[in-house]
Amino acid sequence: MRAPTVFIETFGCQMNEYDTELVRSILKNRGYGFTDAADTADIVLLNTCAIRENAHNKVYGHLGMLKHFKEEKGLVIGVLGCMAQNLKKDLLADGSPIDVLVGPDNYRSLPDLLDQAAAGRKGLAVDLSEYETYADIMPDRIEGVTAWIAVMRGCDNFCTFCVVPYTRGRERSRELDNVAREAEALAASGCKQVTLLGQNVNSYRDGTHDFADLLMAVAEVRGIERVRFTSPHPKDFPEKLLEAVASHPKICKHIHLPLQAGNDRILHLMARTYTRAEYRALVDRIRRLCPEIVLTTDIIAGFCSETEVEFADTYDLVKKVAFHSAYIFKYSERKNTIAARKFADNIPDAVKADRVTRLVELQRGISLKKNRELIGKTVEVLVEGESKRSSDQWMGRTDGNIVTVFSKTASDGLKPGSLTTARITDASATTLYAESI
Ligand code: 5AD
Ligand code: SF4
Repeated sequence: MRAPTVFIETFGCQMNEYDTELVRSILKNRGYGFTDAADTADIVLLNTCAIRENAHNKVYGHLGMLKHFKEEKGLVIGVLGCMAQNLKKDLLADGSPIDVLVGPDNYRSLPDLLDQAAAGRKGLAVDLSEYETYADIMPDRIEGVTAWIAVMRGCDNFCTFCVVPYTRGRERSRELDNVAREAEALAASGCKQVTLLGQNVNSYRDGTHDFADLLMAVAEVRGIERVRFTSPHPKDFPEKLLEAVASHPKICKHIHLPLQAGNDRILHLMARTYTRAEYRALVDRIRRLCPEIVLTTDIIAGFCSETEVEFADTYDLVKKVAFHSAYIFKYSERKNTIAARKFADNIPDAVKADRVTRLVELQRGISLKKNRELIGKTVEVLVEGESKRSSDQWMGRTDGNIVTVFSKTASDGLKPGSLTTARITDASATTLYAESI
C-alpha cells in the first residue's frame, strides 16, 4: 500500500516552525510521506498558534476550506499546536471537520492517532508534560544556511495577557551537550547560523549550566558562524549573558527585548515584574557594554483599562529608547489567561487600532533614521539566498539581523552561506541596500 502523504501548514512563531520539523521527523520514522500541495495530500495538519485572535481566525478560515476537500475525498484533518491545546474538545465539536487534535507536548502520539483516524476514529492528545523536550528527536529540516534549535519549552511567567503558559505548560530545558550535538550536526550539513529558541531563554537551566553557558557552547561549534537567540525577559538579564553577547564574535549583537508597555500601572497589571525605569536602566546597561547592539521589541497597545495618558508613556518610551524595530500588537483577550479572568477588555477596538497605528508610524520613522545612519558604513552580511524581488541580487542579514540586499557580480564568488562585507549605499525602514566589496 502507498504510504499516506501529509501536508503541514505552520502558523505563528519560530517555535512552531521548529515543532513542525519535529513532527515531520516523527511521521517520517513511521513511514509517512510528504507533499507541498494540500490538494494531493491524504492528511492535512495545521500547526496552530493561539497568541492573538487573528491567528485563530486564520486557522478557522483554513478549516472552512478543508471541509469541502474532506467531503469530496475523505481527507484526514489534524490540528496541532497551541490552539489545539487551548481549545481542546471545542475543536472536535459536532460537525467539526477535525479528526485529530494534538497539543505541543504530545507529538509522539500523532502517528497512532492518525492511524486510528484513517480507520474512522477521532482522537485527541492534549496532556501537558513537565519533561517533554523532544531532545532525542532530530528535526527533519530543509537544509539551509539558518536553523532553529528549541533549547527550552514552556513558560512560568504568567504575564496576565499571555496564553503561552497554558498552551505550552511549564518551563523545561534540554541539556547543554544535547543542544551542542544538534548544532554540530547542523554545521556538518552546511548550516551557518543557529537561533536558540525558548519562550523565555533566560530561564534556561539544565541543572549545571545557564543560558550564557549554552550560548557560548553553541558559539564554539566549528562551522557555525553566527548564533542568535530569542527571547529573553527583561526582568532577569544576567550580566554574564550580556558579557557573552558583547564579547563573543560569533554571538550576534542583536537582542529582542519585549517591552510590552511603558507605563508602570499597565506593566504591573500585565505582571511583567519590571518598571519603566528598570527597563530603561537595562537598555542603558546593554548599550554601555555593547554600543553596537541592535535592540528590537514587542509592544501591546490597548491593554485592559489603558488610558490615553498611560499609552502616551509607552509612546514616549518607544521614542526615548529608539529601538531598531518593533512588533506592535493590539491587545487581544485570550481564553483562560489571568487578564481574561480578572480584567475587562474595555478599550474599544478603534482606539486600540489607532494606538497601534500611532506607534507603528513613530517606529517607522525611527527605523528609517537608524537604517539611514548606516549609509556609508561597511557591514558583514551572511548571504541567505537570492533576493525575492530579483534574481540579480543577493539577500542576507547583518549581524544585527537587518535585511540587506545587494547586486550580484560575475566575480563575487558568493553563494548562500557565504559571509561577505558590503557597503551600505541606501536604506528604507526595513531594508539596507548595499554594494559588495
Ligand atoms: N494580545 C496581543 N499581543 C500579545 N502578545 C502575547 N499575548 C498577546 C495578547 N493577548 C504579544 C506580546 C509577545 C508577542 C510574542 O506577542 O507582545 O511578546
Ligand atoms: Fe507569555 Fe510572558 Fe511567558 Fe512571554 S514571558 S511567553 S509574554 S507569559
